[in-house]
Amino acid sequence: MKHNISTPPPCPRASHVIGLCKKFVYDSTFTYPLVIRTGKGCYIEDIDGNIFLDFSSNIGACPLGYSHPEILQVLAEYSKNGAHKIAGQDFYSEEHALLASKVSSITPENFKAFFVNSGAEAVENAIKIAYSRMGPLPGVSCTGAFHGRTLGALTFTFSKPVQKANFPEFAVKRIKFCTADGDPDIESIEPLLKENKAAFILSEVVQGEGGYNFASLQFMKNLSKFSKLYGVPLILDEVQSGMGRTGRWWAFEHYDIKPDIMSAAKALQVGAAIYHRDLEPARQGVLSSTWGGGSRIDMAVGAKTIDIIARDRLLENAAKIGSVLKKSLQDIVGKGGLVDVRGLGLMIGVEFDTKQNRDSKLVSLFKKGLLLLPAGQKAMRMIPPLIINDEEAQEGLEIIDEVLRSSQ
Ligand SMILES: Cc1ncc(COP(=O)(O)O)c(C=O)c1O
Repeated sequence: MKHNISTPPPCPRASHVIGLCKKFVYDSTFTYPLVIRTGKGCYIEDIDGNIFLDFSSNIGACPLGYSHPEILQVLAEYSKNGAHKIAGQDFYSEEHALLASKVSSITPENFKAFFVNSGAEAVENAIKIAYSRMGPLPGVSCTGAFHGRTLGALTFTFSKPVQKANFPEFAVKRIKFCTADGDPDIESIEPLLKENKAAFILSEVVQGEGGYNFASLQFMKNLSKFSKLYGVPLILDEVQSGMGRTGRWWAFEHYDIKPDIMSAAKALQVGAAIYHRDLEPARQGVLSSTWGGGSRIDMAVGAKTIDIIARDRLLENAAKIGSVLKKSLQDIVGKGGLVDVRGLGLMIGVEFDTKQNRDSKLVSLFKKGLLLLPAGQKAMRMIPPLIINDEEAQEGLEIIDEVLRSSQ
C-alpha cells in the first residue's frame, strides 16, 4: 500500500460530512478536513477514497494501525456477544481480569489497576487515590502539562489558556517542567514540599499536548527523590507516552524511576489508574464508575494489544524506526522553518519557527497524503503506529522533505 490522493481536498463527500458536523457538533480541535472511512496497517482511507500515511495513530490510540487481523478477530468474536457493555464496577467479567493481569505484567511489582473510560478519568482517579490517602491538600503540577479536560484533571493542565479560561480550579502549586539538567529551577519541587504539604506531584514524563517536551533526567530524578523524602505520592501520566510508544512500555523506564501511581489510556483502549497496592483506599466504593471499565470489547482489544506489542517486539521496532525518523529529520533542520527535532522511540516532536508556519505545513502534508498533528505552540507530533516499517518511514520522510523544500 502507498499514500495516494486521488481526489484532492476539499473532497465532495468529506465536505458534506464536515458541513453537517459544523452545523450540529461543537467545533473542537479539528486540524484539517479528514473524514475517516477505514484503514489498513499504517494507512487511513478517507470517505472519498484518498489514502493517507498515518503518522498520528489517532494520538497514540491506534498503536497497531488499522485492520490488524488479530484485532479484527477479537471484534468478530464479540459481534456474537450481546452483553458487551456492562456496568464494569458492579459486575465482573473475564476481560476485566484478563486485562488487569496483562497490565500487571508490564507495570512495576505490586501495582493494581482501576479501569475507567478515558485518559482524563484515569487522571481523575489517580489523583483521587492520592487525595484519599493525603487529604484535600494542593496538588503539584508542571507548566506546559496536559492531563485532560474534565474539571478535576483540567486544574492540573497548563498547556493552553483556551483550555482553562473561566473554569474553576482545585488547589494547585505549579513548578516548571525542566527539559535541561542545567535548568536553575530543577530543584524547585523541594521548597514546595518542605514548606507546604501537598497531596501529590503529577507530571508527564514527555509532555504531549504541551509540545513534545522531554523531561531532563535530573528533573525526573528530583521529582522521584523529593516525593519519597517528603512522603508525597508521585503520579506519572503515561496516557500518551505509555504502552511502548517511546520504545519501553512506559516512558519513566528511560529515567530509572518508578511512580507511586500512574495513569494510562489511549493505546490501552480503556483508561486506567494504576497504583502501588499500599496506596489502595482502605474502604470499598471510594472509587467507582458505571460503564467505565465495563467495555468488554475495549478491554479484550487492550489485552490483545499488549500481547501483540510483546510478541512482535514492537518496543524494539519503535526504538529502531524512531531513531531513523529522528536522525533523518535532524539532518534537515534549517529547511522550511524546521528548528528542532527531539524524540524517544516513536514519540517525536518536530518544532517549527512559528505557529503559522507549523499550521500551514500540517495542511500541506495532509494534502500530499501524510497525517501529522500539532502539539504545543509550534510543534508537530510524529507518532506513527508501532508496526511501522522502514519503507513506510522513508515514504513519510520523502513527503516531509518535499513539503519543506517547496517552501524554501
Ligand atoms: C498525557 C495525557 N493525559 C491525559 C489525557 C486525556 O486523555 P483523554 O483524551 O482520553 O481524556 C491526554 C490526552 O491527550 C494526555 O495526552
